[in-house]
Amino acid sequence: MTLWLLLAVVLTTGGTGSPSGTVLPEDSNTTAHPNSLMENVWKPTVVVLVAEEEVMETGELNPSHYPAQRVAKVVQHYFNTRHGSPYKVFAVKKVFSANAEEVPDSGRKYQLELSMKEMVHNTTVACAAEVLFPRKEGSESSPQVQLSCEDILKINTSAPEESLYQQYKLNQNLSAHNLPDSYGHVDEDQEPFWHLGMVASSFIMLSESSENTLYNMAQVANLTQMASENEQLKFDYHVLLHDMVSQEIIPWKLVFTWSPSAGVKVQTMEKSPNCRHCNEPKP
Ligand SMILES: *[C@@H]1O[C@H](CO)[C@@H](O)[C@H](O)[C@H]1NC(C)=O
Ligand SMILES: *[C@@H]1O[C@H](CO)[C@@H](O)[C@H](O)[C@H]1NC(C)=O
Ligand SMILES: *[C@@H]1O[C@H](CO)[C@@H](O)[C@H](O)[C@H]1NC(C)=O
Ligand SMILES: *[C@@H]1O[C@H](CO)[C@@H](O)[C@H](O)[C@H]1NC(C)=O
Ligand SMILES: *[C@@H]1O[C@H](CO)[C@@H](O)[C@H](O)[C@H]1NC(C)=O
Repeated sequence: MTLWLLLAVVLTTGGTGSPSGTVLPEDSNTTAHPNSLMENVWKPTVVVLVAEEEVMETGELNPSHYPAQRVAKVVQHYFNTRHGSPYKVFAVKKVFSANAEEVPDSGRKYQLELSMKEMVHNTTVACAAEVLFPRKEGSESSPQVQLSCEDILKINTSAPEESLYQQYKLNQNLSAHNLPDSYGHVDEDQEPFWHLGMVASSFIMLSESSENTLYNMAQVANLTQMASENEQLKFDYHVLLHDMVSQEIIPWKLVFTWSPSAGVKVQTMEKSPNCRHCNEPKP
């Protein structure tokens, strides 16, 4: 159970010493009020700390608040594990509605109406999702997702996928690092492998997600293509995942295969020991 700290700063104006407000004027522009500047200097005089235990909300949720957004992120990862490719990566666009309910002896179930954006083609699909966070004594298990979306097939990436596959099937020599680099840049010929890293990372993020996480892939630290054992291309990736709730950067090692017909199949995923410098993506 997370403790949330609410920080309230009570402000008083100089002179009187009595509390006269608890919020700063949003568009305060001191140079615009030269005469009041000296008398009415805002200064914090009391700091109140309120500790509040986070209670899981039930019923209708505000679609733009964290509880709904965290569940939407789980849906995004699920969607990528099912439909992602080097040319198709999905991200939550908007949550329209969300509600949560306790299911006795089972866990918490969320129902969401949301839209997902395919980032390579800038196409939007509408979805309805049901996510169950199972609750079992003493064990955390991955969320279970049921999803129905319209119009996924209108994004047809079979031509570029086939040509990428042929190119790297022939020449199994690819390696790359820092996708994106510290300026947010990814070379055009490496973009498909950055996308592939996001899709493969979604398998980890889906299985690691709970109601108290919000995972994104921060960076592909490096990747190496391995000799393929069959018709699949095989890769070894080191990725850095970011949990926005705990603010942790977590390195993982992933071995997976990909082909246009079989999609992404994860063979091993392994959490790396947290390293001191993982927090700073290198140039
Ligand atoms: C503050 O107000 C002055 C005078 O109206 C204006 O020139 C200045 O750009 C404003 N500054 C900001 C940060 O809005
Ligand atoms: C994506 O599409 C939306 C509307 O469909 C448009 O407003 C937006 O500018 C597009 N973004 C890019 C990066 O093309
Ligand atoms: C996708 O496009 C290819 C040609 O590039 C075509 O052969 C294939 O039937 C299309 N698939 C779907 C599902 O529309
Ligand atoms: C891998 O790259 C090396 C040189 O960079 C080259 O000599 C070799 O032929 C390549 N291997 C394959 C399978 O293409
Ligand atoms: C890839 O990155 C990981 C984690 O940052 C590091 O431990 C590993 O040595 C790197 N491998 C290569 C080949 O650079």
